Amino acid sequence: TILILDFGSQYSHLITRRCREHNVYAELMPCTQKLKDLNWKPKGIILSGSPYSVYDDDAPHVDPEVFNLGVPILGICYGLQEMAWQLKGEVTKCDHREYGFAKIQVSKIGTEGQNSSVDALFQGLGDEMEVWMSHGDQLSAIPPDFHVIGRTKTAPFAALAHNTKPFYGIQFHPEVTHSPRGKEVIGRFILNICSCKTNWTMQEFIGKEIQRIKDICGPRGRVIGAVSGGVDSTVAAKLMHEAIGDRFHAIMVDNGVLRLNEATQVNTMLNKDLGVNLTVVDASSLFLSRLEGVEDPEQKRKIIGNTFINVFEEEAAKLEAEAEEEEKSGAASKGKIEWLLQGTLYPDVIESISFKGPSATIKTHHNVGGLLKDMKLKLIEPLRELFKDEVRALGRLLSIPAPLVQRHPFPGPGLAIRILGVVTREQVKILQQADNIYIEEIRNAGLYDQISQAFAVLLPVKAVGVMGDKRTYEQVIALRAVQSEDFMTADWFVFPSDVLRRISSRITNEVAGVNRVTYDISSKPPGTVEWL
Ligand code: XMP
Repeated sequence: TILILDFGSQYSHLITRRCREHNVYAELMPCTQKLKDLNWKPKGIILSGSPYSVYDDDAPHVDPEVFNLGVPILGICYGLQEMAWQLKGEVTKCDHREYGFAKIQVSKIGTEGQNSSVDALFQGLGDEMEVWMSHGDQLSAIPPDFHVIGRTKTAPFAALAHNTKPFYGIQFHPEVTHSPRGKEVIGRFILNICSCKTNWTMQEFIGKEIQRIKDICGPRGRVIGAVSGGVDSTVAAKLMHEAIGDRFHAIMVDNGVLRLNEATQVNTMLNKDLGVNLTVVDASSLFLSRLEGVEDPEQKRKIIGNTFINVFEEEAAKLEAEAEEEEKSGAASKGKIEWLLQGTLYPDVIESISFKGPSATIKTHHNVGGLLKDMKLKLIEPLRELFKDEVRALGRLLSIPAPLVQRHPFPGPGLAIRILGVVTREQVKILQQADNIYIEEIRNAGLYDQISQAFAVLLPVKAVGVMGDKRTYEQVIALRAVQSEDFMTADWFVFPSDVLRRISSRITNEVAGVNRVTYDISSKPPGTVEWL
């Protein structure tokens, strides 16, 4: 395992990714991690970048013990500067912040003062590499016992190596795709210098995770979890089922603002096809009655979150009561429900392990925070080490159907935040139909996987139209489709016009109450993905 110490760079998780792409397991921890508290020894350590300067008063610093551990270290950007700062080099502000592409000249092997291991980091990568820089500080003097292994026009100390120890520092960011050979540089470090084994595979992960779940749940412990029809909760549920069978019980709450036929489809897929123990609760009337007359999106979110908790708790209580009855009647006894399954992914975990302490924006799913508080359940998070596309790969290995594995994300508050204005059963029906046509046509055109998220929005305005000889006065559907890496920024998707034409014509013909369709051409920022 490679230990990556995070100094708060926006790219830290990408370093983890690149290691795993080499089939080497890497773990990201806050830079404040004390080595004595670590119960495993890393094969190598990578120090990440950071928005700080090493000489800032509040700058994060690494446990100096890392330099005595006897394992290879690679400092990236701030990580290089931190290494230099700790080992008595000099860091100063650049005249100009350097941001963008640079060409790094790799120093030749055999120059005075170098030994052959030195260039292991760049071995076979050529004399010159295009790399991505993003820094405001750089080294003005290298620490004693180090030598230069690469330079750029503006940074004479762009890459360093220690004369005798396997310590390396690079000013550029090898983890971003803008450094085309960056992944190879990381590979040189973890494979050649750290000699890591390439044995981290998803299949291996499944085996280990199933064993871990079995161990923590014990022979009788039971787990419940909510499923939504999305990728994460489905994959998590299937994994739980593989581990503890029917002692895992999934609950799907139909809140009345799901996509067309969603509850039925999830039931068929999870229960019938995948064999997961599932109860679908139709609570749509309760949700819709509580949403009556509400227009404010935050209010909608709150109502849906709280109602979800009420319904879920009630359902869990029923399951518990059933188990007690069974026990009384002498049937096979089940343990208590002790655990709550949550589909937390790695990016959420990273956000909450920031070195500044728990960050203000920990993304606990709105439905689950309250559940933990009230139900005194312990949390089980089988996906917490994985990135989204790894969850998809895991899903494929667990035989979850491909269309589900590739499914676009869908917000917890569902169609309620895509119906601008008040939510009624009629409005939900209109939007469900329009959205279904939209997605169907996107799939038919073979475009679904090129789009990160696509959905229809129902606008609370009426527009004039003409149908037959009559004037109509009906509602408007807005179509949204975006491409995005992480949903922090997004671009609108460019559709072939014939696809848009077909979608528009089908929606206005087939969905009663809609006479106009528009396409949203706003990027994020300044827009957001959702309309509410
Ligand atoms: P925005 O609209 O913030 O959306 O650009 C970014 C991503 O977040 C999803 N989203 C939500 N997901 N509950 C959720 O579970 C919510 O309240 C919520 N609001 C937005 C949105 O669908 C997009 O993928």
